[in-house]
Amino acid sequence: MRRTPPVSVSEPEEYDLDEHEADPVVVVKDEADLGAALTETNVMEVLDELDRDLIALKPVKTRIREIAALLLIDKLRVEVGLASERPSLHMSFTGNPGTGKTTVAMKMAEVLHRLGYIAEARVVAVTRDDLVGQYVGHTAPKTKEVLRRAIGGVLFIDEAYYLYKAENERDYGGEAIEILLQVMEAERDNLVVIFAGYKDRMDDFFRSNPGLSSRVAHHIDFPDYDVDELMAIANLMMEHQNYKFAPGAEETFREYLDRRVTRPRFAHGRSVRNSIDRARLRQANRLFADGTGTLTREDLMTITPDDILKSSVFAEDREPEDDAAAPAKGHF
Ligand SMILES: Nc1ncnc2c1ncn2[C@@H]1O[C@H](COP(=O)(O)OP(=O)(O)O)[C@@H](O)[C@H]1O
Ligand SMILES: [Mg+2]
Repeated sequence: MRRTPPVSVSEPEEYDLDEHEADPVVVVKDEADLGAALTETNVMEVLDELDRDLIALKPVKTRIREIAALLLIDKLRVEVGLASERPSLHMSFTGNPGTGKTTVAMKMAEVLHRLGYIAEARVVAVTRDDLVGQYVGHTAPKTKEVLRRAIGGVLFIDEAYYLYKAENERDYGGEAIEILLQVMEAERDNLVVIFAGYKDRMDDFFRSNPGLSSRVAHHIDFPDYDVDELMAIANLMMEHQNYKFAPGAEETFREYLDRRVTRPRFAHGRSVRNSIDRARLRQANRLFADGTGTLTREDLMTITPDDILKSSVFAEDREPEDDAAAPAKGHF
């Protein structure tokens, strides 16, 4: 028995903030089939993907498995008539930039969808500017429009604490928070909100907004990666993109990371991705500048130590490399 039929992604269901669907008729059974539920929902596939596609993050992976188990068992309890309220699913993902919060939110949406808790495996990612207006009367329509888009999926609010400005009484952030609170409660069966950002600022934000805090059931903290883990992330990204390190280049990349982690604006996985992008750019320029001959498959795949050494991180007298993936000057 499937209580919530899956809705295809190509035909998004229209939601009205004021309208509610009738409760489905529940046929009570004597026993629940866990194996069948696992096969039917195919939730293990996403959990295995999470393990495989993401390096480290052990505590995060464990928490997501625990939440999935809770939700699956809850479905089975409903099937045998152990009526239960839908568990609260709003969450907070805290951690430094680039530690995988957005990536994991997408996997979480997939888990929630497969278990029938949201209509689509969809994440609407927003920041303060998407919710809060500059003038009187602008905030409510902006916030409601975002919520309208997000209902049926996950609303991911990045750097959520910027919604609240304690020092400014005339700020419209409070208005957005009020509406969010109402909709998080009224649409708890159709919408999951994930608040994301730095741990310390999020703690302050929840302390200042007990109403919000009490509605967030799961707090998941994303740890920093060490250099070994960043190297593993780099190797995974290289493999996915069909690149490889030439002899010695892996060591050079590790040296690069040793320096990069201490620089301003270091952003874990995002910095790894950006530095690989820049190495690819230098590789392309190197092959391009070399001129005319044929390029082997090997040539086209290989990142040399030099492609990495040309990074400004290795030149102490130059500005630290920015994480904005702007192409380096003087190319093409
Ligand atoms: N554990 C990990 N394994 C592999 N790639 C990762 C991992 N954590 C982050 N990344 C990659 O780093 C980049 C930034 O991750 P993201 O989820 O946007 O971080 P955040 O939302 O915390 O800033 C993405 O390209 C993501 O795929
Ligand atoms: Mg993010």
